[in-house]
Amino acid sequence: MRKVMIAANWKMNTTPREAQTLVSQLLPALDGITGVEVLLCPPFISTVVVSELIKNSGVRLGAQNTYFEDKGAFTGEISPAMLAGMCQYVLLGHSERRGLFGESNQIVNRKIKAAAKHALNPVLCVGESLEDNDAGRTEDVLGAQLRQSLEGISIAEARGLVVAYEPIWAIGTGRAAGGAQANVTIGMLRRTLAGIFDEATAASVRILYGGSANGANIAEFVSQPEIDGALVGGASLKADEFVSMVKQASTAKG
Ligand code: PGA
Repeated sequence: MRKVMIAANWKMNTTPREAQTLVSQLLPALDGITGVEVLLCPPFISTVVVSELIKNSGVRLGAQNTYFEDKGAFTGEISPAMLAGMCQYVLLGHSERRGLFGESNQIVNRKIKAAAKHALNPVLCVGESLEDNDAGRTEDVLGAQLRQSLEGISIAEARGLVVAYEPIWAIGTGRAAGGAQANVTIGMLRRTLAGIFDEATAASVRILYGGSANGANIAEFVSQPEIDGALVGGASLKADEFVSMVKQASTAKG
């Protein structure tokens, strides 16, 4: 059984003080909710304070990015060696990293390998543009993103992998994909993973939906058989709404 994950991507929001406030609102409200792994991905600068706050809870910590070298003259970058031990996960290949910062599948691939070396589980984000979707190229685009990003990754390394399917046209637009539609696409991603690795690995990898997921639509996604949770942007900054999403996810699989 794949454990449902609800992951918060705070993006470039919250000062360290605001992050602290948000976590202190979330923790008591999340306490006692079972069957869901909650992951918080704050900005790098709040990683230390958040890791201290959550250390006695079941909440997991993720980074929003990492570089692929361990150390050296890479001004402004953060390495997986620095995150290891504090974070359990790292988001890689988010469409904002790909689109705004020029990250190719080859760069994402190097980052996945570097993360795996430091026991950081990658949350590999893939997604198609509206243009690709309209032109019927979704399967090709997503297949290429998965295959190229995961090239040379062993089955052992893939065990901790999480994939997030985030159609670019649904991110931050209020225009979420439909649950049934996302389920079909995620099923296709799982078959692609089976081709890259094997059936057992594909069956064990969690695949999340992301893109305008919120308190009103989360149940529609998590109740689908192929969808193992959500990567949540905007709605994760509101404590009440995020907690409601985690609660709904804890019962949505029935
Ligand atoms: P959104 O962002 O929930 O604000 O659409 C999701 C994401 O980019 O991970």
